[in-house]
Amino acid sequence: MVVASALLLLLCAPRAEAQPLPHLRIAGSSTVKPVAEQWQNALLLNYSITLEGGGSSTGARRVCLPPSDPEHVDIGDMSREWKTSEAQLLDDGYTYECLESGNRVTQIMVAIDGLAVAVKRDSAAHACIEAIGGLTLAQLRWVFSDWSDAELEADGVSIESCVPNMDDDAVKEWSDLDARCEETPINPYGAGDQSGTHDFFGETVLGDFGGAEGFPDCDADDMHYLEGLDEDAADLYIQSQRTPNCVMPSEDDHLLLQWLLADTGGQGWGGTGGRGQGTDRDRRGHRIFRVRLLRPVHRHGRCHCDREGHGIGGVRHALGQNCTR
Ligand SMILES: *[C@@H]1O[C@H](CO)[C@@H](O)[C@H](O)[C@H]1NC(C)=O
Repeated sequence: MVVASALLLLLCAPRAEAQPLPHLRIAGSSTVKPVAEQWQNALLLNYSITLEGGGSSTGARRVCLPPSDPEHVDIGDMSREWKTSEAQLLDDGYTYECLESGNRVTQIMVAIDGLAVAVKRDSAAHACIEAIGGLTLAQLRWVFSDWSDAELEADGVSIESCVPNMDDDAVKEWSDLDARCEETPINPYGAGDQSGTHDFFGETVLGDFGGAEGFPDCDADDMHYLEGLDEDAADLYIQSQRTPNCVMPSEDDHLLLQWLLADTGGQGWGGTGGRGQGTDRDRRGHRIFRVRLLRPVHRHGRCHCDREGHGIGGVRHALGQNCTR
């Protein structure tokens, strides 16, 4: 046996002498990953590329590790700015210095992504949103906030107009939003806290994200348990055992989509880039439906269901217009 394997090595040796491709390691943001996959495909002849996800914070952390560290990457994908806790901007306004390792890094914008809130097509959630016509930002905030209704009200959200059909059973249900909707819990899914998308969504939808307000995250043990299940078992867990209303996070977009598609009351957020080319279909051909964002309307001089100056990305100003309590 020993002789045989030695011979094998000898036979392979001449091929190994061909010039090896330079190796590039890339990891980080799941919303940048589809772009990085395109780099990988375009540069197959030129580089051997190892590509991993993990979220923006993972990208920032790993590009900042000392180059001798086996986890160090050459490119850290991020869908957000550097945080002052990670790296310091130098005087040239361009170079960052990692706080711990002193690695010098910079940030180059490669793409602009949109963020979508989505539900499963032909679900209870979809039927409800079709009946209402869409959701306002304040309704999204009510769904995704860990603040009580009283805290939201004190911060300017008109609960009465956001959730006119509330039945006070302490579970947030689609029927709370409108009498035409099913009495099914609203179950959120979204990127985990390693993700730039997580922070962006929190900052734009919640009023005081990272301060007193946050997402009502599911128990981490439940999340790990769910991550370990195969697809059929995960579907069953979601349909029979999932804690209602908590945000089930993952750094894996494919898992998030799978979970969302198993939940008739599910509602998720994510980057739109990775979903553009038919990847918003699961193996059973189910599709997601993107929730339309509605402008607030005025009733009796009171802003219906929104706060001043509070909006998503490009519609921030439109939503903020004349929107005073
Ligand atoms: C990649 O390699 C091919 C074949 O050697 C070469 O024609 C091409 O210019 C290279 N591209 C880049 C971006 O270096």
